[in-house]
Amino acid sequence: MRLKGKHALITGGDQGIGRGIALRFAQEGADVAIGFLSNDDHAKSAVEEMRSHGVNAAALQIDVSNIGALAKFYADATRALGPLDVLVNNAGIEKRDEFLKSTEDDFDSVIAVNLKGPYFLSQLFARDLAEAKRPGKIINISSVHEELPFPNFASYCAAKGGLKMLCRNLAIELAPYGITVNNIAPGAIKTPINDKLLHDPSKLKPLLEHIPLKRMGTTDDVAGCAAFLASSDADYITGTTLVVDGGLLFNYHEQ
Ligand SMILES: NC(=O)c1ccc[n+]([C@@H]2O[C@H](COP(=O)([O-])OP(=O)(O)OC[C@H]3O[C@@H](n4cnc5c(N)ncnc54)[C@H](O)[C@@H]3O)[C@@H](O)[C@H]2O)c1
Repeated sequence: MRLKGKHALITGGDQGIGRGIALRFAQEGADVAIGFLSNDDHAKSAVEEMRSHGVNAAALQIDVSNIGALAKFYADATRALGPLDVLVNNAGIEKRDEFLKSTEDDFDSVIAVNLKGPYFLSQLFARDLAEAKRPGKIINISSVHEELPFPNFASYCAAKGGLKMLCRNLAIELAPYGITVNNIAPGAIKTPINDKLLHDPSKLKPLLEHIPLKRMGTTDDVAGCAAFLASSDADYITGTTLVVDGGLLFNYHEQ
C-alpha cells in the first residue's frame, strides 16, 4: 500500500495505460479521479473496479485540449477527492501524417492534447500546491518518441519532445515548492492506440524482432513504474525520464 492516503488525478484514465495506472494506484491505496474524453461506460467500469479496492474514485469528462475547461475539471477533482498529491498527464493521441502533406489542424490537435493540455493542467496543479504549501508529484506519460524519430509522426514527436523539456524545466522551477516532475517513456505497449499494429503481422513481427525483450509491454509494466514515481520511494527523483520499452530505444547493431 505505497500510496495509502494519496489523492491522484489521471487524464485519459478510462482505457489503456491511464486505466492501468488508475487501477494500480487504487490497489496501492490511493483515491483516484480519472479524466475521460467520451466513453462513459469505460469510465464507469474503471471507477467500479477502483472502488472494489476500498478507495474513493471518480470519473470526470474532459477534453484536455480545451484549456478553458481545465480549471473546472481540476476543481471538480479536488471536490471529489480532497487536495491532490499526484497528477498524471496521460491522455494522448497520435496522427499518422506524412510531413509534406500534414495540415495545421492535425498539428494543432496533436500538440493541444499531448503538450498544451499537460502544460496548463500542470500549472493548475502546481499553483494549487504552491499556494497550500503542499508537496506533490507530476508524472507525464511521454514516449520513447521524446528521443527517437518516428517518420510520418512528426507532430507526435514534436509534442513528446516538448514534454521532455517541459519536465526538465518544471523540475527546476517547481523544486522549491517540493513538487517533483518526471516522465515515463513507454515503448510499444498493448493498448487501443496500437490496434492496427496488433492486427497487422507484417508490422508486428519486425517490431517484436527489434525489441530486445521480444514482447510488447503491458499497461501493468507502465503502471508499476508510475506507482513507484508517485510513491515516497521516488522523493529524490525529479526532471528525468524512466524508459519502459523492453530495451527498444537503444537497440542498435553495427552490421
Ligand atoms: N501504447 C503505446 O504503445 C504508447 C507508447 C508510448 C507512449 N504512449 C502514450 O501513453 C498515453 C496513453 O496512450 P494509450 O496507449 O493508453 O492509448 P489509448 O488510445 O488507449 O488511450 C488514450 C487516452 O487518452 C484519452 N484522450 C484522447 N484524446 C483526449 C482529449 N482530447 N482529452 C482527454 N482525453 C483524451 C483517450 O480517451 C484515452 O483514454 C498517451 O500519451 C500515449 O502517447 C503510448
